[in-house]
Amino acid sequence: MIIPEQPTETAPAAKGSSFLSVQDLKVSFATEDGIVRAVNGLSFDLEKGRTLGIVGESGSGKSVTNLTILGLHNPRTTTVEGQILLDGQELVTASDKELAKLRGSKMSMVFQDALAALSPYYTVGRQIAEPYMKHTGASKKEARDRAIEMLTKVGIPQPQTRVDDYPHQFSGGMRQRAMIAMALVNDPELLIADEPTTALDVTVQAQILDLLKDLQQETGTSIIFITHDLGVIANIADDVLVMYAGRCVERGTMAEVLDSSQHPYGWGLLRSIPHMNADVDKPLMPIPGTPPSLLNPPSGCAFHPRCEFRDKVGGDRCVTELPRLELANGHLSACHLTPQQKQDIFAQQIQPQLG
Ligand SMILES: Nc1ncnc2c1ncn2[C@@H]1O[C@H](COP(=O)(O)OP(=O)(O)O)[C@@H](O)[C@H]1O
Ligand code: SF4
Ligand SMILES: [Mg+2]
Repeated sequence: MIIPEQPTETAPAAKGSSFLSVQDLKVSFATEDGIVRAVNGLSFDLEKGRTLGIVGESGSGKSVTNLTILGLHNPRTTTVEGQILLDGQELVTASDKELAKLRGSKMSMVFQDALAALSPYYTVGRQIAEPYMKHTGASKKEARDRAIEMLTKVGIPQPQTRVDDYPHQFSGGMRQRAMIAMALVNDPELLIADEPTTALDVTVQAQILDLLKDLQQETGTSIIFITHDLGVIANIADDVLVMYAGRCVERGTMAEVLDSSQHPYGWGLLRSIPHMNADVDKPLMPIPGTPPSLLNPPSGCAFHPRCEFRDKVGGDRCVTELPRLELANGHLSACHLTPQQKQDIFAQQIQPQLG
């Protein structure tokens, strides 16, 4: 069968009007096995002071999207197309020097693995103080005071003495807090948090989420929060973008997606959230099958090999035709089911399973 060249998704966000505006972003890697299209036409906007959750299974292109925004991809092996405007400044074409400068000030990041992000050879305090001195020209003493202030802010006990500890002297949760302190030391306007709580136990995870929420209220920072678990961002994200195989398949406010997801993959994510509801007897339903390879993704709707609803769409459309992002029942989703079908299936089949 010949599959016609597929257009990229429609419904781009309003051009350049918001604090962060990503338009038709495409990121691919040349590998020995061929071209990996990790991000394939992604558009979204983020306003000041808001939190966008990017959610999807492992390998859907979440980290690549955000490393590209931060300019941390390898330019020799990576092709980037599209537009990324941060406060009006174009990042796709920005120089390494400009990007490095922005990373120390206007934008900043927190990762899953604090041990990899923090150097074992320097004290925690020094690692918080250094980017501050570099950015503000502060003295050593001022920067140390600032590091203590930041450790206090992120809830490290006895910050005056812990400032001289090395990362290995901190617990996992405290290291994560220290990394947040380091990321926020220069009051960035954009914070990208990539699975920052994935390695932590549930209680510590909740504490870190509360901390990020509190700090955001204080500073007005915009946050992109990346996770594979929709449940983690349910309470902290204003908006959510669901990614599958390098594309956005659903986008709306958190409430819209939680209360009335309009995409079979979104339904799968909702059904697999642990303890979303008080009813612990409802069985968890992991999404059957595995995420596709981005080296050779499925034709048409990339979710079709795993989708239990494709027989409700006429003919072989799910296999041959890429669904565009379109408004259905109040927010954007990319699926060939009609808005009426989406509404009915969610109300009659999915919602009862969520308890
Ligand atoms: N430097 C690279 N070279 C080749 N493929 C890559 C590279 N980085 C990421 N990929 C591939 O891109 C896809 C998306 O990866 P990633 O964004 O890390 O996914 P996730 O959603 O889990 O964060 C994966 O298939 C991954 O293997
Ligand atoms: S387009 Fe078809 S295969 Fe894709 S999610 Fe919708 S029904 Fe399922
Ligand atoms: Mg990732």
